[in-house]
Amino acid sequence: MSLEKIPQHVALIMDGNGRWAGRQGLARIRGHQAGADRLEDVMRAAEKAGVKYITLYAFSKENWHRPKDEVQFLMQLLSNYLDHKLAELKKNNIVFNAIGCLTDMPSEIQAKLSRAAEETASNTGLFVTFAFSYSSRLEITEACRALARLAVQGKIDPEMISEKDVASHLYTSALPDPDLLIRTSGEMRVSNFLLWQISYAELYVTEKCWPEFTAEEFQKALAAYSLRERRFGRTEPLNTGADA
Ligand code: FPP
Repeated sequence: MSLEKIPQHVALIMDGNGRWAGRQGLARIRGHQAGADRLEDVMRAAEKAGVKYITLYAFSKENWHRPKDEVQFLMQLLSNYLDHKLAELKKNNIVFNAIGCLTDMPSEIQAKLSRAAEETASNTGLFVTFAFSYSSRLEITEACRALARLAVQGKIDPEMISEKDVASHLYTSALPDPDLLIRTSGEMRVSNFLLWQISYAELYVTEKCWPEFTAEEFQKALAAYSLRERRFGRTEPLNTGADA
């Protein structure tokens, strides 16, 4: 498919695993398993389309309040994923990155996340960021704390703090802002995900649950994006570097 405009960075809220499983008469955790099985296809579709960055909402800070068995299953799923897929990520030239309150994660997973990031850091292909124990409000709060500390130390003038300074203290400081935010399962909310970064992102919501989100569904989202007119608050469309 040839598209007029390709987003440089696509953020994805992978929702609806539980509902998908329920509809098949399966336990919720089977939905998460099926959701993890979608990752490869979506990464490949993104790379093929020319997307440079994808950021996936895998586990929110609020998700720790889910039943213990479900949380344990999700941690095990991630652990297995890192054990079995790291070689493939390396082979596919993917850069693996994790953001969020990673110190909340079990220590053996923290070690595996660091290893995956280190071993893929010199890759040059798709830059894949997973958000774990992530809360956008906390991320912004932490950035405020860091800037306040610098101000107290006399290293910055509070009056001179810019949007760029705030952005440079977010977990995503190395990434461009998302151009497109995709949410599966039909929910019309952003659920504390990248609140600062998605200020001008185009939103795309599909009724498909995450386990049903195929490469074709990803391409449909890109096709919808390519028809959007991004004005960034102006009256005329503005072509960003990503869109040019
Ligand atoms: C939301 O669906 C999904 C999650 C909380 C987990 C997302 C995780 C994955 C897709 C697997 C990721 C795997 C790895 C290895 C990183 P939900 O359970 O809230 O669905 P529901 O709203 O239908 O109940």
